[in-house]
Amino acid sequence: MAVRVATNRVVALAARPAGFPSESDFELVEQAAPEAGPGEVLVRVLWTSVDPYQRGRMSEARSYAKPVQLGEVMTAQAVGEVLESGDSRFGAGDLVVGQLGWQELAVARAGTLRRVPAALDPPTLALHAVGATGFTAYFGLLDVCEPKPGDTVVVSGAAGAVGQVVGQIAKLMGCRTVGIAGGPDKRADLLGLYGYDAAIDYKNDDLRARLKEECADGVDVYFDNCGGDISAGVHTRLNVGARIAICGQISQYNAERPQPSFHPGLLIVFRARMQGFLVSDYAARFDEAAARLARWVAEGEIRWREHVTEGLEHAPRAFIGMLNGENRGKALVKVADR
Ligand SMILES: NC(=O)c1ccc[n+]([C@@H]2O[C@H](COP(=O)([O-])OP(=O)(O)OC[C@H]3O[C@@H](n4cnc5c(N)ncnc54)[C@H](OP(=O)(O)O)[C@@H]3O)[C@@H](O)[C@H]2O)c1
Repeated sequence: MAVRVATNRVVALAARPAGFPSESDFELVEQAAPEAGPGEVLVRVLWTSVDPYQRGRMSEARSYAKPVQLGEVMTAQAVGEVLESGDSRFGAGDLVVGQLGWQELAVARAGTLRRVPAALDPPTLALHAVGATGFTAYFGLLDVCEPKPGDTVVVSGAAGAVGQVVGQIAKLMGCRTVGIAGGPDKRADLLGLYGYDAAIDYKNDDLRARLKEECADGVDVYFDNCGGDISAGVHTRLNVGARIAICGQISQYNAERPQPSFHPGLLIVFRARMQGFLVSDYAARFDEAAARLARWVAEGEIRWREHVTEGLEHAPRAFIGMLNGENRGKALVKVADR
């Protein structure tokens, strides 16, 4: 049984970075433990997440969500154990997932939390393959890209949290998959663990030459996590009727002058469709995605890898490492033992 503590350690935003963030943009702060009011739930965080979108929340630039304020706890999805509940939907001991932040204790509105099913093993799956990044892969591929059997599907950021799931769903849909990621270890994971038909190491291979070899019949679907030169290379191989999902543009997130990778004239030449999307647009269908992804994971159809950093105080290091490509699989921070 969990023990109540009097203080809460949180990682707060200390400065707004220009360019690449550093650990000094964050501070570890000790606060009084929060209490849950009516309709609220007090959660002891066990695992918290580091994700590319958090880079956007550190900035005041206009976006789809409000920035984290200086001195405020960094926003993050996390899995934790309910200590106290002011809502009949949850009770002490339940495992939940929600936007609980980089901190040891969090209070959340009950309606913002999802229960982590007891059968989900390990429960951290609720932070990736059967959680937000899995849902991103699911809706971005199936709804935005509408893959058909025999399509060639190219995925950038293919060995990351979203990318590892995209390639495997595309295989389940009968597509041929080409993954792009950085370094020989990730290339080996693409082929050996995630079952991509072909893998390109953009840091060591001649990207355009390899795309020509591996996509000799062109690209029908491009699931874009990266933008930049990688995407510019893929765009030269598009087929007529290609679908491009703009999921993320991580190569540009720390650039002081982001570079567009696309010439709109190509959309005319290839009669192609390019669409940006946010996973939150599909919130009403998360249960559908969770049920299918959980079944595919349980049946071994979707395999995954986690990259775990121990200790809340190391969340900034884990975040910066993820932006640098150090994560092999979903980047997570273990905050406490269950
Ligand atoms: N639209 C949505 O709702 C939504 C939801 C979730 C995530 N996303 C986006 O999806 C993308 C992947 O997110 P994730 O959570 O799965 O992260 P992730 O891929 O697990 O981790 C980030 C990876 O980005 C790659 N990277 C970093 N800098 C790069 C660069 N300059 N060029 C190419 N690759 C670079 C690194 O892999 P390498 O070692 O291979 O370079 C790094 O491991 C991000 O762009 C994110 O913003 C969008």
